[in-house]
Parts: sequence; structure tokens; C-alpha cells
Amino acid sequence: SWQYSLRPHYLNEYIGQTKAKENLRVFIEAAKLRKEALDHVLLYGPPGLGKTTMAGIIANELGVNLRITSGPAIERPGDLAALLTNLQERDLLFIDEIHRLSHSVEEVLYAAMEDYALDIVIGKGPSARSVRIDLPPFTLVGATTQVGRLAPPLRDRFGVISRLEFYKPEELVLIIKRTAEILDIEIEEQGALEIARRSRGTPRIANRLLKRVRDFAQVAGSPAITDQIAASALDRLEVDRCGLDRTDRRVLQVIIEKFAGGPVGLDTIAAAISESVDAVEDVYEPFLMQQGFLNRTPRGRVVTAAAYRHLGIPEPQQTGASS
Ligand code: ADE
Repeated sequence: SWQYSLRPHYLNEYIGQTKAKENLRVFIEAAKLRKEALDHVLLYGPPGLGKTTMAGIIANELGVNLRITSGPAIERPGDLAALLTNLQERDLLFIDEIHRLSHSVEEVLYAAMEDYALDIVIGKGPSARSVRIDLPPFTLVGATTQVGRLAPPLRDRFGVISRLEFYKPEELVLIIKRTAEILDIEIEEQGALEIARRSRGTPRIANRLLKRVRDFAQVAGSPAITDQIAASALDRLEVDRCGLDRTDRRVLQVIIEKFAGGPVGLDTIAAAISESVDAVEDVYEPFLMQQGFLNRTPRGRVVTAAAYRHLGIPEPQQTGASS
């Protein structure tokens, strides 16, 4: 699909994530020199930061096949067995949302990762027995938004654990200009910067907003995306100057208006804005925290003074003694 062709295919084309990228470059090179499968890699971080893209790049750099699946798609141990027994030596298996694997599948995965073997129980009752199937050495790349939700025995079987970070605006500018080039969109530097600043540090959002801003530019008869076109289009899309969208603002607003700024539990916030707990925890909260609008405390989430300022709501006076 178009989205696949927008993705970079090699490390040299991949913009940002310098730490993760430069470490992976070494591990890939070393595995190739030894003619071994790369150790298993765990990629974690908020959605849209390039985990799937990175898995594809690792496979390309290693010169091996890539198989893509996800935690929820592997329903039974047999599904995992089918995937693993179809791999060729040193192939890469990518499991997205790996924190959502079932326990029974997870248990089979442990031996597969550690010993390149599958322990499968066949039959039932007294005649049940376990058979071991040898697998080719392979690389598992797991991706998750929530590293804390991984069972420790699974987490411990990854030799490389890499955290993807939100992108800086100047990195997103490069990504936006690269995408604009591929899609044949005329964009000025300041136009790219305006989109970059409002993309929540996330390439997937930057690329989506670029296409929507292009629509506004085209209908307005503007041959290029300028900063003014970008700003007015993004205002109409209700993406504000800090990149907060309607839902981000609703999260802050509901904590302020219904819970006096917090602390309030995650489940309560999710229910109050009719979003799933996963969406609040994986998508909204990480960005609001990174931007300094929200904090986690042992008693729940609290908004910061910056959140009141951003929303233009006066901060209540501190009352009584507090520690
Ligand atoms: N497109 C999406 N993410 C990218 C990245 N990190 N580098 C280059 N192009 C991208």
C-alpha cells in the first residue's frame, strides 16, 4: 500500500531515534559478521513512532524474510507453531502488541526463543505426550506500547530492549519533507515546521496531517503549503498550537472540571470521556505527560499548572494545609 512505500527501508533512510538506531546498527552488523540470527529485539513506546517500520528495516538490513503478526492474532499454540515452523534460518518474526499474547501461547514462545525449539503436547489424557520440534535459528522482534505489561519471563528473553521516543520537531520536518517529496507535494520549510510542531512527536500523525493540509491548500488554490495554510488547516482540524487534539483536551478538561484537577484514576478518566482505558494509557497520557500537562502520582493522575494555562482556565487557589 502507499503507506508501505512511505516507510524507509534501510537504516540510512530512517530519520530520528538516533540511540535505538545506532545501537541496532552495531548488533545487526555483528550478527551478520558471525553469520548468526540477530538476538531477539523488543521495541517499545507509544503508537506511531515506527516500531513496525523498524522491524522491516532490521529484516532488510539482515537480508532475511519478514513475517508480520500480532499478539491477538495468535490465538492458540498451534497458530504460533505454524508460523515458527515456516521460518527459514535467520528469518525475522515480528509480533506487534506482544503484551496481548495469551498465557498458553506465551509459554510455547519461551522455549522457541531460548532453545529454538517447540514443545507441543499431542493427544489428551493418559496418552498425551510432549514432542519437541527443532526450529531454525530466528529473530523475534516484539513490539509493545506497554513494556510494564509484559510477563517478566518473556521480557527477559529479549537480548535487545529498545525504547522509541517522541520525535523532535526538526526530525519531523525532515520526515514531512521526505513524504512530501514522495507524494509530490509542494511544501515550504515553515509549512513543514508548522505541521511538525502539531504532530504530537509522531511521524504517523505528521504524515496524516500533511495529506489533510494538502487538501486545504489544493482547494484554496495554493500551489504550495505555506505556514499560513498549514496553521489555518490545522486550526480547522482542531489540532492546537501544542499538537493537542480534541481528545487530548477533553482528558485535561474532564480532570479539571469533574475532578478538581485530580488525582483521579485512569479508569475514571476513560469512562468520563467514553474512551477505552488502553487508548487513554497508550495514546493520550504519554504525550500529555511528555508535554508537561499531566502527571502520574500514586493516587492517580493530576493536571499541571501548564494544563490550566493552556486551556485558559484559572487555576484554583490552594486551600488549607498540604504537605
Ligand atoms: N516515515 C515515517 N517514519 C519515518 C522515519 N523515522 N524516518 C523516515 N521516514 C519515516
